Amino acid sequence: MTGTKKLYVKTYGCQMNVYDSERMAEALGAQGYEQVESPEGADMILLNTCHIREKAAEKVYSELGRFKPLREANPDLKIGVAGCVAQAEGEEIMRRQPMVDLVVGPQTYHRLPSMMEALGRGEKALDTEFPEEDKFAHLPKARLPKRGPTAFLTVQEGCDKFCSFCVVPYTRGAEVSRPADRLLREARELVERGVREITLLGQNVNAYHGAGPDGGEWGLARLIREMAQIDGLDRIRFTTSHPNDMEDDLIAAHGDCDKLMPYLHLPVQAGSDKVLKAMNRKHTAEQYIRLIERIRAVRPDLHLSGDFIVGFPGETEEDFQATLDLVETVGYGTAYSFKYSARPGTPAAERAMVDAAEADDRLQRLQALITKQQRATQDAMVGRTVSVLFEKPGRMPGQMVGKSEYLHAVHVDGPEGLAGQIARVEIVESRPNSLSGRLLG
Ligand code: 5AD
Ligand code: SF4
Repeated sequence: MTGTKKLYVKTYGCQMNVYDSERMAEALGAQGYEQVESPEGADMILLNTCHIREKAAEKVYSELGRFKPLREANPDLKIGVAGCVAQAEGEEIMRRQPMVDLVVGPQTYHRLPSMMEALGRGEKALDTEFPEEDKFAHLPKARLPKRGPTAFLTVQEGCDKFCSFCVVPYTRGAEVSRPADRLLREARELVERGVREITLLGQNVNAYHGAGPDGGEWGLARLIREMAQIDGLDRIRFTTSHPNDMEDDLIAAHGDCDKLMPYLHLPVQAGSDKVLKAMNRKHTAEQYIRLIERIRAVRPDLHLSGDFIVGFPGETEEDFQATLDLVETVGYGTAYSFKYSARPGTPAAERAMVDAAEADDRLQRLQALITKQQRATQDAMVGRTVSVLFEKPGRMPGQMVGKSEYLHAVHVDGPEGLAGQIARVEIVESRPNSLSGRLLG
């Protein structure tokens, strides 16, 4: 194919979608598409959608509606919908919004090139299957440019846990782990392109059990330890984990693998055992707390993050108090909290909802507690020395911004040449969503 065409990709939802969007843009890059920052003037628009919470499909339809004038101005404009809403809605998308030319589920991105050929012939293309093969291994790559110092790498997809509120097992399918040698190769390629920090991604990443090059099966800890051998790769993170898959060697890695950063996102969702059971989490609050104690025993400075759902069907004020108690006991560096929303097709969607005003009130109270903890953890950093991987200039002239090992955004006054460097920084001030510091020589 000749000539450059313009591709606009809009990504919703989790980091796995960010990774998927990058891979799709690379695949379309091999077909002559260059990514642009705005939909105006684009030859192809691709929405990579998320279905995890409220009104996801409706938001996609209204977003699509906004592209109508663009399509009228340019009848050759191609519009595609990818991701979990594409998976959940399938053909319905093309029925409701005939402008859409392509619908591709999260497991079939490697078929994009042939789908694009169909579009070239003026046909529509739809694929929401769950094939066996590794979709990333079959994606063509454009020549890969230099890139920023941090990257995502999807190592595992799908989930077999079936929490009763969650659509992921339906939209992303069963757990599949990518073979370790391919991941190590991809990690080396990223490092060659300037990456110094890799975040390993998976819907349930610590359930990773990929084929090892030695013929055995590797868990996440083994993968991390091997990846840590790569020269030039300085930091490894992973997200998101389930407490029941936190195996002994992964806990140990937090203590003895220097490149594994002291930050862990380990959602518990609720603090009441009754609610945890109704959520099908298969662990109690006490088990979660003991687990955190074991990880902190090997890595005392660990910053912990989590996810919470309030107003789950059947949650009483007493149950909610148990969530507040758990947050008090654990102490989070940061945490995300959501009001329960019924996802069609999940078991919990059949159950009676908590009063909406009550759920809103609980969400506010939980968020106030989390914010208080977040502030306290951040304020406690003042006076401490951290190591910062600098990414880019800050908003103020002469300012550079990067991330500490604990994933705090840190600003310093420093030269642009700092981008891609790791430097020691003394924290001097705690601001609402970031820290500022002083470069140490
Ligand atoms: N309602 C509210 N929050 C949800 N999450 C997942 N499904 C739902 C739902 N139906 C939250 C969980 C999960 C995070 C990614 O989104 O807390 O960990
Ligand atoms: Fe959804 Fe996470 Fe539960 Fe899997 S473990 S069902 S992705 S909330």
